[in-house]
Amino acid sequence: MKIAVLPGDGIGPEISKVGVEVMKTVADVFGLKIDFRYGLAGASAIEAVGDPFPEETYLLCKDSDAVLFSAVGDPKFDNDPAARVRPEQGLLAMRKKLGLFANIRPIQTFPGLLDKSPLKEEIVRDADFVCVRELTGGMYFGEKFESDDKAYDTNVYTRKEIERILKVGFQLAQRRRKHLTVVDKANVLASSRLWRKVAQEMEKDYPDVQTDYMFVDNAAMRMIQDPRFFDVMVTENTFGDILTDEASVVSGSMGLLPSSSIGESTPVFEPIHGSWPQAKGLDIANPLAQVLSVAMLFEHFGHVKEGELVRKAVAASLEAGVTTPDLGKDGKSDYGTQAVGKWLCEFISSCAASCKE
Ligand code: IPM
Ligand code: MG
Repeated sequence: MKIAVLPGDGIGPEISKVGVEVMKTVADVFGLKIDFRYGLAGASAIEAVGDPFPEETYLLCKDSDAVLFSAVGDPKFDNDPAARVRPEQGLLAMRKKLGLFANIRPIQTFPGLLDKSPLKEEIVRDADFVCVRELTGGMYFGEKFESDDKAYDTNVYTRKEIERILKVGFQLAQRRRKHLTVVDKANVLASSRLWRKVAQEMEKDYPDVQTDYMFVDNAAMRMIQDPRFFDVMVTENTFGDILTDEASVVSGSMGLLPSSSIGESTPVFEPIHGSWPQAKGLDIANPLAQVLSVAMLFEHFGHVKEGELVRKAVAASLEAGVTTPDLGKDGKSDYGTQAVGKWLCEFISSCAASCKE
């Protein structure tokens, strides 16, 4: 496998290192050959070559089987509305140029971590759902206008864009608990009404899936009131962005949520969290979202055992209390980012023989 590694900014390089080490260790156990090739993205790419997603990085991604992405973003740009180029544009350019229209964000809870969620344990226990977020359309990419006294973003969706993302949602629901919730704002937005119309048409082709429709404001409430209600939810780009940050609260830490982005070209695997610039270089960032992205990567290519081994290592580390401070007692821990990574790799190598079956 050829893997393009894009560490990006902030804590990105630290968690990227752990992700790559874990991948290498699993590859050794199973005798897989993986070729890692590094590329620039985000603020670091702007500084080096003036472009947050340079052509060279794009070509590297195109020529790879998968991209292991970490995070981009730098406060230097956030507080300057006049900045001409921004690190986030690199992420958006990557999504658009690789045609990554489907972003899969699984939300699950971990037994020993229920008390980390700000929600009551009895509410989050056994919550397990997936958000399918449309990733290359809507307001993010629609026509924009910006002047000093007027600005707008256009929320455009075509039938084709809606159909292909709904298909991902329906098919994923078929492989899970067969329940799909289409999240929209059809009581107000024209674009949402087209989503709902198309979904109602397609519903007939998936009779085994129970499909329901929910307004996004209601979904935001339901998610923290009764997260177990959801199995698969599918929604447009902006709603999905907002709802998945909210969903991360159910798991107890944003540092636990991986994602995959798939579409027309090379798939990308990345944590849902950002670059947490304040923690850069402190060795405190939780690498598990990145590591679980590695599990998703393996599984995407049918390497089920490899993915399972990664998940087993993550679960074992949590059980053993080997966690970064965000999950430690009173926000403290003896383990830093790299120490957690080292523990995971040792676990993976040590159960090499027994875990392969
Ligand atoms: C995400 C992020 C990005 C988004 C930002 C960094 C542009 O929040 O992946 O959810 O808004 O899509
Ligand atoms: Mg987001």
